[in-house]
Amino acid sequence: MRAVVTGAAGFVGSTLSRRLRRDGWDVVGIDAFTDYYEVDRKRRNAAAVTAAGAEIIEADLVDMDLGPVLDGVDVVFHQAGQPGVRASWGDGFAPYVQRNVLATQRLLEALRDHPTLQRFVYASSSSIYGDAESFPTTEDTLPAPVSPYGVTKLAAEHLTTLFGTNFGVPTTSLRYFTVYGPSQRPDMAFTRFVTAAVQKTPIEIYGTGEQIRDFTFVDDVVEANVLAGTTATAPGSVYNVAGGTNASVNEVLQILRDLSHGELDVSYTERAIGDVFRTGGDTTRIASELGWKPTVTLQEGLARHLAWARDTFGTSS
Ligand code: UGA
Repeated sequence: MRAVVTGAAGFVGSTLSRRLRRDGWDVVGIDAFTDYYEVDRKRRNAAAVTAAGAEIIEADLVDMDLGPVLDGVDVVFHQAGQPGVRASWGDGFAPYVQRNVLATQRLLEALRDHPTLQRFVYASSSSIYGDAESFPTTEDTLPAPVSPYGVTKLAAEHLTTLFGTNFGVPTTSLRYFTVYGPSQRPDMAFTRFVTAAVQKTPIEIYGTGEQIRDFTFVDDVVEANVLAGTTATAPGSVYNVAGGTNASVNEVLQILRDLSHGELDVSYTERAIGDVFRTGGDTTRIASELGWKPTVTLQEGLARHLAWARDTFGTSS
């Protein structure tokens, strides 16, 4: 099987690419190496992916020649995008439109009537739900994002669905709920927390810390991709990928204190605009149609994330 993984130097894309290589897939990665966070981290991820036997092409989906790279592809895993809820306000918005909406549209146009494509898997987001009214939230809930980021992820998901239903492109969208684990992006909560625990630096919490997330371990998200990429579901299918953790940020900090046997230097500041208070995904559909369920508990996943931070950023106990 030949896979194209977009965003292959990113957090989920690089973890997925390495897993696909372990499973014997031919993997071509595409990454634009944008500077939203330190490019060195992406170079390190990319080096691990190429060491696993994949090829990585440095190019931007918005203007690259897609024909040759998509030639003979069986499955496209579209992980590339402009992430981050907090940076999507104000002048920061343009890259969200370019890298989430336009890039996805270009890719889908290039995959219409494609002779070998079996699946197109889009990395959607729990942020499309906004402040949902009922939990766990099912896929049939009316999306109502509360950040510009969420709006662009939803627009790209709608494009993915309509290319599926209108033109029969075999698309599947996976709505990821706050993915964490080794190599998580440096702007995200867990990487900040475990790095601070290792380096004994301050942690800043946005709001009360009582906000709840359905944190999902990266290997479980990768497994969902593999299942979505190899299962013939109806074009335009959409699934929640949620870890079932339902923990508050304060609960996460308490687990981290226990794991790191030490105090954390925590302070509380203003809530971030566009930050939803709670996420929680119903996973009945993905369990019954793809046979997926989360396998990594928050304690175990956080311990693995902390071990990665110790290896990468320090040697503290
Ligand atoms: C995450 C990703 O960043 C998005 O790209 C993704 O689309 C989204 O999950 C999703 O599920 O769809 P978020 O839940 O904000 O968004 O991820 P974290 O950075 O892990 O934040 C979790 C919570 O911790 C948030 O309430 C955030 O405000 C808070 N936080 C984060 C802090 O209190 N301090 C920090 O330093 C960082």
